[in-house]
Amino acid sequence: MTVKERYFISQKDCHKREEIIMCGIVGYNGKNSVTDLLLDSLELLEYRGYDSAGLATMNANTGKVKLRKCAGRVKDLRKICAKDKKISTCGIGHTRWATHGGVSDLNAHPHRVGDVLLVHNGIVENYEELKDHFMLHKDLKSQTDTEVVAAVLNRFYQGDPHEAIRKTVKYLKGTFALVIMFTDQPDVIYAIRNVSPIVAAYNDNGTMLASDVVALGATADKYMVVPEYVIMELHKDEIKLFDLNDKPVEADMIDIDWDTTRGGKGKYPFYMEKEIMEQPDALRATMQSRVVNGKIDLSADGVPDEILKDCERVCVVACGTAMHAGLVAKALVQSKLGMHMNVEYASEFMYSDPVIDEKTLVLAISQSGETIDTLEALKYARKKGAKSVAVINVKGSSIARESDYVMYTVAGPEIAVASTKAYTTQLMALFLLVGRMAKVRGIFDDATEKAYLDSLTKAPDKMQEVLDQKHDIHKIAREMLDAKDAFMIGRGLDYSILLEGALKLKEISYIHTEAYASGELKHGTIALITENTPVVATVTQSKLKEKELSNIREVQSRGASVVVFVKEDFDLADAEYADVFELPAMEDEFMVFPASAALQLLAYYVSMDKGLDVDKPRNLAKVVTVE
Ligand code: M6R
Repeated sequence: MTVKERYFISQKDCHKREEIIMCGIVGYNGKNSVTDLLLDSLELLEYRGYDSAGLATMNANTGKVKLRKCAGRVKDLRKICAKDKKISTCGIGHTRWATHGGVSDLNAHPHRVGDVLLVHNGIVENYEELKDHFMLHKDLKSQTDTEVVAAVLNRFYQGDPHEAIRKTVKYLKGTFALVIMFTDQPDVIYAIRNVSPIVAAYNDNGTMLASDVVALGATADKYMVVPEYVIMELHKDEIKLFDLNDKPVEADMIDIDWDTTRGGKGKYPFYMEKEIMEQPDALRATMQSRVVNGKIDLSADGVPDEILKDCERVCVVACGTAMHAGLVAKALVQSKLGMHMNVEYASEFMYSDPVIDEKTLVLAISQSGETIDTLEALKYARKKGAKSVAVINVKGSSIARESDYVMYTVAGPEIAVASTKAYTTQLMALFLLVGRMAKVRGIFDDATEKAYLDSLTKAPDKMQEVLDQKHDIHKIAREMLDAKDAFMIGRGLDYSILLEGALKLKEISYIHTEAYASGELKHGTIALITENTPVVATVTQSKLKEKELSNIREVQSRGASVVVFVKEDFDLADAEYADVFELPAMEDEFMVFPASAALQLLAYYVSMDKGLDVDKPRNLAKVVTVE
């Protein structure tokens, strides 16, 4: 199978009653100076959280500990660390994100209580109970659950780290990845996890752990996912694993393809631009192993034809961008297969009393594979007897593990919070899945399958044509910088495409943007169109074109300033537009590929020209594991 290994394992993050935290953790023990190494790795984890950061280092000879932490970014921590010239070779670090409350130097990790230094990802639900049970109030300085865990560990610590860890985790309710240093054990870092991931790697220079393999840098060519409830010891020259009875445990090593992580942002100012530009290659890679001898073949994914043939209904559970990919799939399923298909926000799924049974095929779509709403919806559907295929970017993630079958997208690591290449590779996987369904259900014969695949094969090149004209889209973006509100209008597939386009613009430019089914405007929303309201329209579907143009004229006559992204062989008649961008032509249903590239670039340039942090928009994190 030629599907590349996925790179980063995401995690369940932490939430408490008063704060919701998503965090990244790292640890290193080896021959190299640890401070810069940890800081560099934490920067790679900042997509998980960036409101505070900290590290604790220990001198292996003297056992002397240095603890530095602050509210702010890793770059702020770097300034604090720059004053320190002492070299340590063993340390742990943390980067944290809180959506409300709790951003302070004191709440930043690591936490120290007595002999224990601790960084933590996860949620310890019973931390208040633990405070009372162990009468810890006097030991605590912060408001975090993490410090409570450190205090419990310290209570149990009598010189035997394993015993303290074992006793502590018995009391913990919730999810956690704990990385611990004991001040009298200067040569070892300890870790244990439940759900929240820890990955680890080693090479000749030392050993390293992180909450995501992307942060392991160029440490090694292989990594392990640390099994749950296993105590890990990170020594300078080896990693040891023990179960809770102290029996040694082995973990499988997984190959790392470092090509894209080593390059960082490359020549681009932001990961988002790099990731937009990577799409043609990512699409080809996602397609490559699934087209054998000119036919769609999902056998490398292990997806059996029977479930595609026998299912009576299809249902997507997903969130955000992934859900928008599901909407495109719905259009395909209904038009190609003549089957009804539901696409649900995963967070609403359970409350909609969905009609699910053993004849239902559930598609769980997720870049990270860790989105808790999607995971819970998938579990719910499986309990009702549904068969499931997950479309996932991150290998070994929770949703991938929960699903009956997995189609991995081959997008590579997506670091920018705004999803781009994950979305279009999800589309590619879904087009292939629907194509195979059409074949096994006898709807496609060899000739129609070939025509479908011929079009799909062109998608990367058509996207490339748009990417090559990025400067033209940049010009269009400049006209939108002062907008407070914007609309995106279209029908059918155009509407689905625009829902994703609007999400992109909202999340990174902070312009309030609504994607609207253009035929629905006149039922209320058109009241919001006034002089110069920016409106973006896509016109890519032959059967909808005339109606879409008429809806455009409706908003123009109310003074809207309309930018049109139009399929190049469509005639726009004589109307005047603020701008027109011609999208390279494909069969209608494939137009989502070039159109999405254009809308991604539009959002990107608006955000960049507004001087915003494109990759790390406010209030958002890449992996959303709170309900
Ligand atoms: O990892 P997932 O694909 O499950 O994430 C789902 C959404 O949180 C995600 O697509 C989100 O909407 C993106 N920030 C959009 O750019």
